[in-house]
Amino acid sequence: MNEGERGSKGYLPLFETVPARGCLPFQLFSASTFIGTCFIWVYRASYIPGVEGKTERWAWIGLFLAELWFSFYWSLTLVRRWNPVFRYTFKDRLSSRYNQEALPSVDIFVCTADPGIEPPIMVINTVLSVMAYDYPTEKISVYLSDDGSSDLTFYAMLEAARFSQIWLPFCRKLKVEPRSPEAFFSNAAEPPDDSVIAEEWLSIKKSYEDLKIGIETITKLGRIPADMRKEHKGFREWDFVSRKPLPTLVYVAREKRPQYHHNYKTGAMNALIRVSARISNAPIILNVDCDMYSNNSEAIKNAMCFFMDEEKGLEIAYVQYPQSFYNLSKNDLYSSSLRVVVELELPGFDANGGPSYIGTGCFHRRESLCGKKYSKDFNVEWRNVNKKVQESARVLEDTCKVLASCTYEQNTDWGNEMGLKYGCPLEDIITGLSRQCRGWRSIYYNPERKAFLGVVPTTLLQYLVQHKRWAEGDLQIFLSKYCPLIYGHGRIPLKLQLSYCPYLLWAVNCFATLYYVTVPSLCLLKGIPLFPKMSSPWVLSFTYVLFANCAYSLGEVIWCGGTIQEWLNDQRMWMFKRTSSYFFAFFDTILKLFGFSESAFVITEKVADEQTSQRYEQEVMEFGTPSLMFKILATLALLNLFSCAGGIKKVVTHYDHIKTLDQFGLQMLLCSLLVYLNLPVYQGLFFRKDSGKMPASVTYQSIIYALLACTVAMY
Ligand SMILES: *[C@@H]1O[C@H](CO)[C@@H](O)[C@H](O)[C@H]1NC(C)=O
Ligand SMILES: *[C@@H]1O[C@H](CO)[C@@H](O)[C@H](O)[C@H]1NC(C)=O
Repeated sequence: MNEGERGSKGYLPLFETVPARGCLPFQLFSASTFIGTCFIWVYRASYIPGVEGKTERWAWIGLFLAELWFSFYWSLTLVRRWNPVFRYTFKDRLSSRYNQEALPSVDIFVCTADPGIEPPIMVINTVLSVMAYDYPTEKISVYLSDDGSSDLTFYAMLEAARFSQIWLPFCRKLKVEPRSPEAFFSNAAEPPDDSVIAEEWLSIKKSYEDLKIGIETITKLGRIPADMRKEHKGFREWDFVSRKPLPTLVYVAREKRPQYHHNYKTGAMNALIRVSARISNAPIILNVDCDMYSNNSEAIKNAMCFFMDEEKGLEIAYVQYPQSFYNLSKNDLYSSSLRVVVELELPGFDANGGPSYIGTGCFHRRESLCGKKYSKDFNVEWRNVNKKVQESARVLEDTCKVLASCTYEQNTDWGNEMGLKYGCPLEDIITGLSRQCRGWRSIYYNPERKAFLGVVPTTLLQYLVQHKRWAEGDLQIFLSKYCPLIYGHGRIPLKLQLSYCPYLLWAVNCFATLYYVTVPSLCLLKGIPLFPKMSSPWVLSFTYVLFANCAYSLGEVIWCGGTIQEWLNDQRMWMFKRTSSYFFAFFDTILKLFGFSESAFVITEKVADEQTSQRYEQEVMEFGTPSLMFKILATLALLNLFSCAGGIKKVVTHYDHIKTLDQFGLQMLLCSLLVYLNLPVYQGLFFRKDSGKMPASVTYQSIIYALLACTVAMY
């Protein structure tokens, strides 16, 4: 222990912050790319084709604008990468300084909405894993909010409560990890027959399997048999399941009526904040999605190291864990792990003032959610915050019913100053931002062993739809009064405002990208050169920027633990989502801005059929539905294929091969890179027979559109 480590009050801090090392290569890369980009601008500005070539001139100017946008967007992304910081906690110091009594209690919220999409067995695995945290049991309360108020979920939860009576002691005794029974039993090796624990182990496994079969049967049936219904009097009513020394488990069915807007998950969260305030009123709240389980029983203790740090803990409103996944394919086919975001960009966000709140896997200070401003003099007495519940269970039940009713929020500050904010599909982000604007700070904590594991979309369409929804919500925020540059102006540092922007501007990338993947290729067909000759020195600036970016992003993916193939997949998905998801997101946002259509929160499908999952595991792209998104992707892919073929023909048939190649070299390179990225699309169009190939209607239509575009371009 060296003295320098001690904080100014003589305490040893409970967490430390380590800036990333090796930023020099990154800074060199940025500086050199910037210089390369400047050369590109100079080239574009000084070689604009004259007025006599009208098409050339416009194509050129368009390309220039696209490049200006890319440069602008790229410089925004630098803000988040400039100086990432990593956080480390000292749990041993926490335990030696605070005994069990002194630790604050925690309310854990799990939200579910539809048992068809979020199977009850998955939900209860989440619930069981968070009940089993390595933390004083009487200090944990788990609230399951069921928006559909489904009998199936309720039944599953009662069964889970029963099972928890044997599961939790078992977890503690054997230090089981992870504490979701499904994840544990499907990965753990069985203990040898003669070991002392074998019998208990097997009997618990058997109980879990019975439980699972029971719940899955009922789920398939779609309703609860009448005799079971009699057994549980609490159906459709409030029920409190509380057996010491287990954590309190509370089931909250939120009232929904057609004439009141229920605000989806955010509404559920706000109802839970009110209900839990009457029951356990813990000063710390954790919220997790029902498709994520806790993979680390020490996650609460880690989070407490931040909140309870005597010096820096007071200003912390929330501690955000990354979203991690157990369902990734080997090379992350759809690039859904967001690996670089999780490992590098969010730490950079943290360094700039605190990450955004991403809606799940987040520990909150209750006060920060209730409209309170941060002030320096404010001091927490963790022990006194706990309100003792004195009301009888009956009275409590009635109060809570009122709190969760759909009319409660009318004419109140809920959804505005109180609780999570309403008003756009990504309320999480503005809820985080508004807390930062009230003077709070947030922390990003990304431990080596991930704390929460969820599932990713396993088909291309689910992925694209998910990104459309995100990009749309993001752009809506950017265009609303919550735009960080306006809302945060004067309240949070500029670099934090700018850190939000690359996400919020995702959708806007569609135009520059669409332009870049179509116009140069069509001009290649037509014979209009848009890039410098291969023999001219200007070509260096283009090739340098292209290859330096590829090399750098490859390096980034590998540094973050990915593979080369994963990087390639990432590049492909980057193109796919920019040309389809973002394009739709942009138009929907604009339409909504003018009041054309209602925003509807689409829940992505979380279960896929067997063949689909098999293909996903083998990393074969899933098309299979005649979606408009696929028509766009297929048309663009074919268009580039035709242009590439046209370009090659031009070189071969022209009397001066070398001169043509010289003139169109870069354009052909760009076109062939696009063809290379699109290989899975051609496979889906022409070479596959399984049910995941492109539907015939997509194939025909995209061929017609692509041919049409090429013909128009040529004549
Ligand atoms: C997750 O992926 C595994 C294979 O990687 C698959 O067996 C399982 O069904 C998937 N789960 C969900 C919920 O998609
Ligand atoms: C989840 O926890 C297990 C230990 O229980 C660990 O081996 C595994 O690496 C963790 N998964 C992730 C993604 O961190």
